[in-house]
Amino acid sequence: MKLTIYRTLTLFLFLAQVQSVPLDLATKDANDFRRHSHWVDIWTAMPQLTEPYNLPPTPFNSSDTIFANTTIRQTFQVTQNADKIRLRLSNAFGIDDLAVSKVTIGLPLHQQAGISALEPGTMKELSFSGESGIIIPNGGLAVSDPIDFSINVQSNLMVSIYLEQGQTGGAITGHPGSRVTSWMSFGDWTDAGNLTDSSVTAVDHWYGILEVSVTMSN
Ligand SMILES: *[C@@H]1O[C@H](CO)[C@@H](O)[C@H](O)[C@H]1NC(C)=O
Ligand SMILES: *[C@@H]1O[C@H](CO)[C@@H](O)[C@H](O)[C@H]1NC(C)=O
Ligand SMILES: *[C@@H]1O[C@H](CO)[C@@H](O)[C@H](O)[C@H]1NC(C)=O
Repeated sequence: MKLTIYRTLTLFLFLAQVQSVPLDLATKDANDFRRHSHWVDIWTAMPQLTEPYNLPPTPFNSSDTIFANTTIRQTFQVTQNADKIRLRLSNAFGIDDLAVSKVTIGLPLHQQAGISALEPGTMKELSFSGESGIIIPNGGLAVSDPIDFSINVQSNLMVSIYLEQGQTGGAITGHPGSRVTSWMSFGDWTDAGNLTDSSVTAVDHWYGILEVSVTMSN
């Protein structure tokens, strides 16, 4: 049924274009959106294989797993206003699959970079093809579903990633030269206002996230 409608519509559009019949306005708007909108990166970092000395400290780094049962909370400064964004997570340099259990985004408290406290009421959970987590194959990338989220140019975005199983194989994708502090804690703290577990640790590196992008029209 759907297919028939689609075929009829395609045929109609084809005929409409060939015969210069004015298109229905709604169809024209949808086509204009598809033709003129695209995703633009508003934050990105070059992914690289994290060197052994830039891996997280023990106990987040052990001989068999990195970041097991760990929430990683990081901040990123974006370069454009956005009201709909999506994230790209990277396992480009992993040797094994990376199971991402849950990801939330929010704004850091008082717009401070490199802190672990969330501005209350700003947290939203991301999904991946409708699921809360995703398994990223080694060498792969995962793009989250677009989410309505407002952020202004040069503001800081907070991203919390929970890895239940962590990364095995000893290799993890990151960008060590973050020049901003990132936080980690055992347990799922993706929804938390702050990280308050006794395991909380801070490092000046970024892990696992590659891009924040926004839809733009031109
Ligand atoms: C992490 O663990 C690996 C493997 O045991 C080790 O080579 C590396 O030096 C450790 N890095 C840190 C920062 O602890
Ligand atoms: C994960 O860490 C939390 C916080 O330390 C702890 O309560 C929980 O038992 C841990 N879960 C596993 C499976 O180790
Ligand atoms: C948030 O937690 C961190 C680490 O536990 C702590 O240093 C900081 O003071 C806390 N911030 C707030 C606003 O509670």
